[in-house]
Amino acid sequence: MIKALILDLDGVICDTAHFHYIAWKRLAAEYEYELSEADNEALKGVSRVDSLIRILQWAKKDISPEQFEQDLLRKNAWYLDMVEEMGPNDLLPGVSTFVETAQKLQIPLALGSASKNARTVLNKVGLIQAFQAIVDASQISRGKPDPETFTTAAKLLGFGPNECIVFEDSLAGIQAALSGGMRAIAIGKPSDLLGAELHINNLGEYNFADFQ
Ligand code: BG6
Ligand code: MG
Repeated sequence: MIKALILDLDGVICDTAHFHYIAWKRLAAEYEYELSEADNEALKGVSRVDSLIRILQWAKKDISPEQFEQDLLRKNAWYLDMVEEMGPNDLLPGVSTFVETAQKLQIPLALGSASKNARTVLNKVGLIQAFQAIVDASQISRGKPDPETFTTAAKLLGFGPNECIVFEDSLAGIQAALSGGMRAIAIGKPSDLLGAELHINNLGEYNFADFQ
């Protein structure tokens, strides 16, 4: 029986997936590599460090460990410049209604994000109070597609994996949910997000009547 819902952040609650793309694209251009939409799809849900490792592989570029650290910091600064402009109006369609309905039905919500900026973004959009548990990249040792992010969130809420549904916009995240023994609902195209039991365009399309 389902008792709780676990939400990814970037691309599920707000359009920060797009900001990550803009910032990575700018960095990739310095390596003379044009980051495509398809590349970006493969980076969704992937940690900051692993994303840069992949981009360097695609660009066939070698950089020093010092440069690697510096480039991570620069990418994050560009990303945070965009986040700085965000406010409660930047929630994706249907998010407010989804949260209100969950609260009305007393269904606990957790956040399970690969981002170290998760709390900053949640504060910006005014949603930090909506979650009974928040798990971000700083609390886990293995990122998505490993299930640790979501199993930690479930534990913090006090539920087993089979009592949780995960909402994700990334393939890595869907895989993380499924390998953790949870159900997975995808936000996005079925062709990009194989394995999910249901595909919706945004949280507003989720029908709480289907909760069980
Ligand atoms: C995930 C995003 O939520 O967080 C990735 O889908 C991003 O695109 C990752 O790289 C890490 O985010 P941050 O904010 O820690 O750089
Ligand atoms: Mg995401």
